[in-house]
Amino acid sequence: MSRLISLRVKIYAVLFCITFSMFLFTYTYRDPLSHFSKDRCACLTCMAELEDNPWFGERFNQSIHPLMTRESSVLSEETFKWWQGLQRPQPLASYTGLIERLFQLIPDKVVYMDAGSDRCRTCSVVGNSGNLNGSGYGELIDAAHFVIRINQGPTKGFEKDVGTRTTHRVLYPESAINVDSDTWLVLIPFKNQDLQWIVHKMSKMSVIKANKNKVLIYNPTFFKYVYDSWLEGHGGYPSTGFLTLLMAIHICDEVNLFGFGANQYGNWYHYWDKTYMAGTARHPMIHDRDTEYNVTLLLAEKQAIQMFKGR
Ligand SMILES: *[C@@H]1O[C@H](CO)[C@@H](O)[C@H](O)[C@H]1NC(C)=O
Ligand SMILES: *[C@@H]1O[C@H](CO)[C@@H](O)[C@H](O)[C@H]1NC(C)=O
Ligand SMILES: *[C@@H]1O[C@H](CO)[C@@H](O)[C@H](O)[C@H]1NC(C)=O
Repeated sequence: MSRLISLRVKIYAVLFCITFSMFLFTYTYRDPLSHFSKDRCACLTCMAELEDNPWFGERFNQSIHPLMTRESSVLSEETFKWWQGLQRPQPLASYTGLIERLFQLIPDKVVYMDAGSDRCRTCSVVGNSGNLNGSGYGELIDAAHFVIRINQGPTKGFEKDVGTRTTHRVLYPESAINVDSDTWLVLIPFKNQDLQWIVHKMSKMSVIKANKNKVLIYNPTFFKYVYDSWLEGHGGYPSTGFLTLLMAIHICDEVNLFGFGANQYGNWYHYWDKTYMAGTARHPMIHDRDTEYNVTLLLAEKQAIQMFKGR
């Protein structure tokens, strides 16, 4: 009897050793090449894999951070000049002084630059095109980790087509609207005055009704990088929609794009306002809509993003 037990124990011990060493082998041995080709994120497809694509790799530069920290707020002379030249120059408060005051008000933290084999961050970027009207994309949009909306694009009354969640809203400072306290506000400063405006409004929280700890500032260096690398200098400067798309490409592993471009009849308008004709009325010269749209189509073609064209 006791010999039978000891035989069993031996068999179990041997089996255990075999299993354990196989386990060790699989977990310690990794083909160094597969580490680079397969483990770039935990999603089914990863933005980082595209760095191997020549067209994408030539333009994409992971080391430039879309969102500002004290450290990344330092601008090269060339970037500073370009950025200041976007709008008519006016007497200025000092840039560095404004940055100092800004980071007394908002957290100075590197955010979302944590790409790696454990991360799967999916993002819905929601533009304001009339092609969302009747699209029924609401649930699909809401299913992502981040739902990033642009300017005033409303959800109330349009839930079926545009969803209900908003984790981030990207805005020009002067167009800042009230957002609820769960939403991050991403402000794109076009000049020193915008930074001044942000500092001013944030010091009196009565005006921007947002969560002070949830304010992010778009980095002018990244702004210029989008213009140089992705638009190759076309147009005056990139539109808010295009700047938002490139931010998403840098902070997300998977990007689904909604509400960009014209509707099926070639009309450019807002999904909540039939009378607004984006292309003909505003900014026809400032933003090169055709180049932006072509690059967006190429991003979809290279499978960097999935584009939902609506109706
Ligand atoms: C990426 O950006 C960094 C910082 O601006 C720059 O030093 C580097 O040369 C760029 N890399 C490529 C491949 O352009
Ligand atoms: C959205 O589509 C419906 C149905 O086609 C139409 O009646 C409505 O006017 C459209 N709304 C806008 C803002 O275009
Ligand atoms: C956009 O792409 C179309 C089709 O490939 C091309 O004919 C057009 O010239 C492009 N426009 C710009 C501004 O690059």
